[in-house]
Amino acid sequence: PYHGGVTSKRVLLAKPRGYCAGVDRAVQTVEEALKLYGAPIYVRKQIVHNKHVVATLEAAGAIFVEENEEVPEGATVIFSAHGVAPEVYEQARTRNLKAIDATCPLVTKVHHEARRYAAQDYDILLIGHEGHEEVIGTAGEAPAHVQLVDGPEGAEKIEVRDPAKVVWLSQTTLSVDETMETVARLKERLPLLQSPPSDDICYATQNRQQVVKQIAPECDVMIVVGSTNSSNSLRLRDVALDAGSRASYLVDYAHEIDDAWLAGATTVGLTSGASVPDELVTEVLERLAAQGFTDVDEVTTVQEKITFSLPQELKRDMKAAA
Ligand code: F3S
Repeated sequence: PYHGGVTSKRVLLAKPRGYCAGVDRAVQTVEEALKLYGAPIYVRKQIVHNKHVVATLEAAGAIFVEENEEVPEGATVIFSAHGVAPEVYEQARTRNLKAIDATCPLVTKVHHEARRYAAQDYDILLIGHEGHEEVIGTAGEAPAHVQLVDGPEGAEKIEVRDPAKVVWLSQTTLSVDETMETVARLKERLPLLQSPPSDDICYATQNRQQVVKQIAPECDVMIVVGSTNSSNSLRLRDVALDAGSRASYLVDYAHEIDDAWLAGATTVGLTSGASVPDELVTEVLERLAAQGFTDVDEVTTVQEKITFSLPQELKRDMKAAA
């Protein structure tokens, strides 16, 4: 629409976006542990895959390490939201570490499924991204039974022992559509392939993709706030392109937005990954407003109400200290 000869430029702001219940819980776990035990608190791997969150917690006294060996004997270590293989708990016990597990309960659910199918001697086809921490953790529950399927092409290489006893599971943060394509490819080769008892791709991933799909056809540009190692954020960028946004960019911070991306655009879509605090989105909105995108429409597809309580071991200590 034209207003007095000036083209109005608008932002379609996706909702739900940003923090999911699992990330919120994991970040709070580190914050509460810092309050309760004092700095330093060790965290194995990035607690959630977001640069800003990690930097903020680091400034507050968290020390991020790659492996348990880097944690001094007897110290407190928090395991990240993405989950860990059973051997990681074992190492922590051997080193006498006080372990607090911030694994998202929806990831733990997939670990349970992997253990259960392995106990029944199924071949498990785990759809996910090679090398991602979550996949390493889930596969670690049953290494002898799990094969990784990384995307539709990965389906071609699969060999199973008994085609009547195969199940697929998945990483929680994949593209829903791409995963369904992978499953379809697998089923061409393995018609008796079984599906997980409930969705492994979590509610937060699904909801964030759904709203992006809805707004993308109207967008000249989609901006996704998120880090480059964040699986669900990367998927939002891809989903936007597949759903018709002409361009789609992933940024950690507002200042990374290039004016050239906005040149000629009248509608910009904006969303953020599940590990992204909303203050970063607010900064992007300010940046866009400075470029004339002052008309902000929030498009809401679903209201999220789910929350998770803090890890049991932390709650116990908080109660004892109160
Ligand atoms: Fe959990 Fe899904 Fe968030 S698995 S950490 S709720 S993206």
